[in-house]
Amino acid sequence: MDRDIENMTRSMAFEADEDNGRNESPNDTLGDIITRRFGRRDALKGSLAVAAIAATFGPLSALVGSRPAAAQAGKSAFSFPEVARGVGRDHAVAEGYSADVLIRWGDPVLPGAPAFDPMKQSAEAQKKQFGYNNDFVGYAPLPAGSTSAENGLLCVNHEYTDEEVMFPGVGVDQQSKEANFKAMTRELVDIELAAHGGSVVEIRKSGGKWQVVADSRYNRRITGSDTEFEITGPAAGHDRLKTKADPAGRKVVGMLNNCAGGMTPWGTWLSAEENINGYFWGKLEDGHPETANHKRMGVPGAWYNWGAYYDRFDVSKEPNEANRFGWIVEIDPYDPTSTPKKRTALGRFKHEGADNVVNKDGRVVIYTGDDERFEYAYKFVTEGRFNPSDRRANMDLLDRGTLYVARFDADGTGTWLPLVHGQGPLTAANGFNSQADVLIEARRASDLLGATKMDRPEDIGPNARTGKVYVMLTNNTRRKADQVDAVNPRPDNAFGHVVEIAEEGGDFAATRFAWNVLVQAGDPGVAAVGATFNPATTQNGWFGMPDNCAIDGQGRLWITTDGMGFKDTKCTDGVWAMETDGALRGTSKLFYRVPVGAEMCGPCFVPDDRTLFVAVQHPATDNVKDWPEFGKLSSFEDPATRWPDFKDGMPPRPAVVAITKKDGGIIGS
Ligand code: FEO
Ligand code: CA
Ligand code: CA
Repeated sequence: MDRDIENMTRSMAFEADEDNGRNESPNDTLGDIITRRFGRRDALKGSLAVAAIAATFGPLSALVGSRPAAAQAGKSAFSFPEVARGVGRDHAVAEGYSADVLIRWGDPVLPGAPAFDPMKQSAEAQKKQFGYNNDFVGYAPLPAGSTSAENGLLCVNHEYTDEEVMFPGVGVDQQSKEANFKAMTRELVDIELAAHGGSVVEIRKSGGKWQVVADSRYNRRITGSDTEFEITGPAAGHDRLKTKADPAGRKVVGMLNNCAGGMTPWGTWLSAEENINGYFWGKLEDGHPETANHKRMGVPGAWYNWGAYYDRFDVSKEPNEANRFGWIVEIDPYDPTSTPKKRTALGRFKHEGADNVVNKDGRVVIYTGDDERFEYAYKFVTEGRFNPSDRRANMDLLDRGTLYVARFDADGTGTWLPLVHGQGPLTAANGFNSQADVLIEARRASDLLGATKMDRPEDIGPNARTGKVYVMLTNNTRRKADQVDAVNPRPDNAFGHVVEIAEEGGDFAATRFAWNVLVQAGDPGVAAVGATFNPATTQNGWFGMPDNCAIDGQGRLWITTDGMGFKDTKCTDGVWAMETDGALRGTSKLFYRVPVGAEMCGPCFVPDDRTLFVAVQHPATDNVKDWPEFGKLSSFEDPATRWPDFKDGMPPRPAVVAITKKDGGIIGS
């Protein structure tokens, strides 16, 4: 979900909250560095400063990997006919492709699940049905260890809930833009808790079309209310994770706000807890030791009224519960009885995703952004090595390793700084008494290390073929002119950008890297925006607010967006294909766009690149007021679209869509 654009409902609650985890650390932005190097006047001129710095990158581009011959020759890696930009009640995909709804909110997942009836919702039904707001989509082939592209387990995050379009009678205040809390009874809150979490669903392709395998033994619902998680790694059992319900600090009920994620080489699903602050309300007692920690994470956000019914969501009654959320979760989709693990070694913050790669030495490297303005980009390097011949040997790899945070220097290089207790400032003198403290307060630890404050780091996608890594930076309209830096070069950055990292020597575990801005997003036709798409990009091809990304089996980059659809964009969110090499580098093409008010999440290719799964999240909610054909906020009774069913009385339903080429070919060909 995006928190920058107006005319949103949940989003406005975020925006109004001044304590939403703002980074007030005194770290140098790169603007400070630029100021020292190039003088304050140039730094204030933003683009001039960047031009000056760009001159210093030159030799570093030698670190970037070799380019494929086709790209050198200026031949596009994508030959599909581009979709025309637009805003509509339905989705749209490139000509020659099919976009079929595979599973929707409320569809049966477990045996005994009732058919979805929006007027007869219950928590018991929701616990057996597909949850709300599908975000991350992963694919685990069946049988395990195979590369089957026709049978597998779909692993899907259910990030959050939108009451005003889920439930009859809740409504939305057109002025405050908030759903009506008073209408949120315990019964409705219980449905919300059950609609959070994730789903594992067996799927099979036959006759060219994907279908859910009903009542598969693998099918599973993970919820906010019922699923038990084990806390593992250095922070497990720490006093700051202990609660009345869990005096040992090792068991948590539920995962919340699971945004993007990743699939590991050993076939587990990593699910990233992001904006967990919104579920907590209440007030810590004065002088409580968690005060600064909670403030840094924006706890309590009070975007939901769950604390009215459950003490654990009220920080005055259970101050440590919030410390048990904000982690990377590992789930084994092949064992529906397995206990998911919250892997504390990867740190606690607002994790967007967990894309990963096996390094050439066998260590596994997981990239994870902290999606908030002025927060940081991280990677985790396992201590042990991936064992391709013994799955079980990998199952606890994520409990030991080193978490690093990125510092991007003005000369076009950068350093991964280790978050290790006892090293540098991460000592008791600064309140870090153990590695658990460093991990629970990873943001503050990163402040002290001098990490670079970024414009909302979202997915960070490593490309195993090239050694390069792509960092999606959604936007940051709070960055002032004197806060720009080389890697976040625009003040009032409304459209975001994509940074390309080249790890030194193609070694994903390296602590040094070179970096470059692949593209500054936004409308290239408006000079003041400062977009830097390749001129070969068409009017349909530009985008803003990059959020998720996928790299297909051929090493091509695909980007999805969160926050388009307002009037300046003349297009909803969608999937864009992005050239990264050769003469067309920086050229993007629109492949698919979502229905009005939705966000595009979860791009996921199956192993043969002949299916792309995408997740259409929160249809009818964001920016719909800007759409002249609608002009107000959506409610259950009157939504901007009833996608995908288009039936009277049926609310809009988040859904996973399977995109295939009608001739069975490779996606994008
Ligand atoms: Fe849930 Fe960063 O988007
Ligand atoms: Ca998002
Ligand atoms: Ca996201």
